[in-house]
Amino acid sequence: MPGTILIGTQWGDEGKGKICDLLAGDMDMVVRFQGGDNAGHTVEVGNTTLKLHHIPSGIMYPKTICIIGDGMLLNPEVLIGEMTYLESLKISTDNLIISSNAHLIMPYHIILDREGEMRLGSAKIGTTKKGIGPAYADKAKRIGIRVQDLLDEKIFEKKVVTSLEEKNEILTKIYNVEPMEANEILTEYREYTLRLKSHIRNTSLMINEGLERGDNILFEGAQGTLLDLDHGTYPFVTSSSTVAGGACGGAGVGPLKIDHVYGVAKAYVTRVGSGPFPTEDTGDIGDAMRDIGVEYGTTTGRPRRCGWFDAVLLRYAIRLNGLDGLALTKLDVLSQFDTIKICTQYRHGGETYEEFPPHQSIFHKVEPVYEEMPGWKADISGATKLEDLPKACRDYIDRIKELGKVPFKVISVGSERDQTIIL
Ligand code: IMP
Repeated sequence: MPGTILIGTQWGDEGKGKICDLLAGDMDMVVRFQGGDNAGHTVEVGNTTLKLHHIPSGIMYPKTICIIGDGMLLNPEVLIGEMTYLESLKISTDNLIISSNAHLIMPYHIILDREGEMRLGSAKIGTTKKGIGPAYADKAKRIGIRVQDLLDEKIFEKKVVTSLEEKNEILTKIYNVEPMEANEILTEYREYTLRLKSHIRNTSLMINEGLERGDNILFEGAQGTLLDLDHGTYPFVTSSSTVAGGACGGAGVGPLKIDHVYGVAKAYVTRVGSGPFPTEDTGDIGDAMRDIGVEYGTTTGRPRRCGWFDAVLLRYAIRLNGLDGLALTKLDVLSQFDTIKICTQYRHGGETYEEFPPHQSIFHKVEPVYEEMPGWKADISGATKLEDLPKACRDYIDRIKELGKVPFKVISVGSERDQTIIL
């Protein structure tokens, strides 16, 4: 499986970190291709729980090269913090490689994100406040600063000074906050450059050479399909292409180099931040899912909104990403419920929708149509094969499979590596 893409099929937090970590053992490279430190991947190995925001999940494996690809945003301070943390755990970061084309998150992006959200008031997106939107906006406006600019002090200085001329006007005149000092930023980023310089490469070349050699390469998606800038629940999305197609652009590889596209679906649905969520349960069921599943944001600590599995979203994700396999995660969280619901279609204005509705205005108002199945009310966290699962649990899996028409490759029944059924 030389080129494999792994994508979240919901609003992020599907448990991609664990699945990436499982796959990464067989990988020569793990590549992140979009987003920045807004992502939060939790990987549990033995007694160690790693919470990674920037570094690809494969870093636990000393032979796996971990790449921060062309399409990513880099917050050097956060990345260095993560590297130092990993090294304190005796996990080497020698194999961490950063694309020279990745764009830098600058301190003013973070302030602009925060202030912009405040200004939106109740219409806010609920961003992670990591500067993602403003940094990608600068990239699209062609005034962004890239990792390669760090390598030439004069160019870097010129770009920071030019950028601050505009940003300081915005900060002071629109948001009424203090202007930023170019010298402070330059001093800070000079230190970051010293630490990161030896990790910067032409990553698209490395990845393509690897694929030519027959290396196994995993393209690790962050966020999820419904947070995609084009296809997600706009404007309540992130600012990058989170779908499988984004992996090619963001890593710099051609689509024919990809052999598999796997999706990760949580056995129920969660969302952080604002925006529509048809199966959200704001009562006891949602609270129980949050408590049992420990559904709090890895990046921001915010409680996640929770609800039943939504097969309309799954079908949408299968279509947008061309999925040929699925991982179902956190199935154990549903073990305590008497009955389990699956949303099979939506209803609105006398119409039913089997597929994702054509307009956001409809999606905001749809009502989920549920099928109810008996729960299994048994501890499944020790299951290692399908036959270990109670019949009601297997029926639930089969029903999701039937609704999505894509085979399951992995079923996860706990956070540990070995709490996994490989199919
Ligand atoms: P931003 O990416 O920080 O601009 O946030 C935009 C939206 O995406 C917000 O609703 C965030 O909560 C959501 N978001 C961003 N990253 C993640 C993630 O890794 N998991 C889940 N939601 C995310």
